[in-house]
Amino acid sequence: MRFGRTLVGLFAAMLVAAPMRVVAQDAVAGEAVFRRICAACHNPTPDGPSKLGPSLFRVVGRKAGTLEGYRFSAAKRDPDLFWTAERLDPYLANPREFMPGTSMAYAGLKNDAERANVIAYLGTLK
Ligand code: HEC
Repeated sequence: MRFGRTLVGLFAAMLVAAPMRVVAQDAVAGEAVFRRICAACHNPTPDGPSKLGPSLFRVVGRKAGTLEGYRFSAAKRDPDLFWTAERLDPYLANPREFMPGTSMAYAGLKNDAERANVIAYLGTLK
């Protein structure tokens, strides 16, 4: 009985600890991807000006196309589109398929691991 509870506790602790470790690692790898591919068009810092694309500081959780001071394209956006990891994934995989008419002139990040890593990195920009 007690042994069983200990096992359950251990398992719960592993569940809590494991994702944190994975996310931290992914975000570091994702920063490298960001610098290599996205930084040409996007600033990751709070005071960094928008470049060709909007600043991505605090982009996770932000409503799409709403960063003040940046002129977004007239792409038809779902009015309820908030940038969560789930929505960033298909956008980054194929921007123009996910958002027809978007001015993000980028073909898409096809590598699943790199995409997951860069999304983890975007989550740290806050
Ligand atoms: C060639 C320049 C370019 C590259 C490279 C690029 N982007 Fe963009 N990005 C843009 C532009 C321009 C927009 C604005 C799109 C619009 O208004 O339709 C944008 C929009 C976005 C948005 C939506 C922002 C918002 O507030 O709605 C996200 C998220 C984003 N880019 C992430 C990325 C990531 C991550 C990468 C690297 C994998 C990347 N972009 C690579 C130019 C680029």
